[in-house]
Amino acid sequence: MRFEIIRTENYEKMSLFAAQKMITKVKENPRSVLGLATGNTPVGLYKYLILDYKTTGTSYKEVRTVNLDEYIGLDRDNKNSYFTFMRKRLFNHIDVKLHHTSIPNGVAPNLEEETVRYDKYIQKIGGIDIQILGIGHNGHIGFNEPGTSFKSRTHVVTLAESTRNANARYFNNIDEVPTHAVTMGIQSIMDSKEIILLASGTSKAEVIKRLVYGEITEEFPASVLRSHKKATIIADQAALQLI
Ligand code: F6R
Repeated sequence: MRFEIIRTENYEKMSLFAAQKMITKVKENPRSVLGLATGNTPVGLYKYLILDYKTTGTSYKEVRTVNLDEYIGLDRDNKNSYFTFMRKRLFNHIDVKLHHTSIPNGVAPNLEEETVRYDKYIQKIGGIDIQILGIGHNGHIGFNEPGTSFKSRTHVVTLAESTRNANARYFNNIDEVPTHAVTMGIQSIMDSKEIILLASGTSKAEVIKRLVYGEITEEFPASVLRSHKKATIIADQAALQLI
């Protein structure tokens, strides 16, 4: 096992620790490229970035951001699009320039072209300095579901039923949850210079156990992180209770 594990007492402390790491990175290099995630887990991290911005004025004017994934078929202003999520949870509250933020376009007329464009764009801006990840109950990272090639680049995926069910809480009913998404591929994620995986709560305990002790296999996408040169798990006691 090569990654570092940071154990915090609770969700708030996990979020604060991760925020401090990101803030340090941005202060060291104001032109950092930050890889961002959606979902419940990073919400606290974004809250602390906003708080720090408002109290100490850390500037994001030169920062660029790239997000992991987006649903296919939801307009950008749909309340459940990740585009809307990121604006509401972070971008509208700090001084990042919106044209420096990037999320795969899930309503692009040609999705194949969009996936190629996205990887090229990440390369063009110099690659991701630090990538934030959450983890799905089936070990997915981004929307790379079990069975995805470790060599994958940004691509279109069919969402696992378990993933659609887990995300149904944001929609009126399961039928409204998109069936497909565009996600950064596993190789695109692994190319990041540094990776932080966040996990919180008892429901993530089994998956974190498998991540730490299980085998490295495409059947469990997050296991690839064990071969990354600079990956850190920051998780609360509840998620780390089996470690
Ligand atoms: C989100 C993403 C997903 C989530 C994962 C965990 O951009 O790529 O991999 O990180 O589904 O979601 P939460 O944090 O809601 O448990």
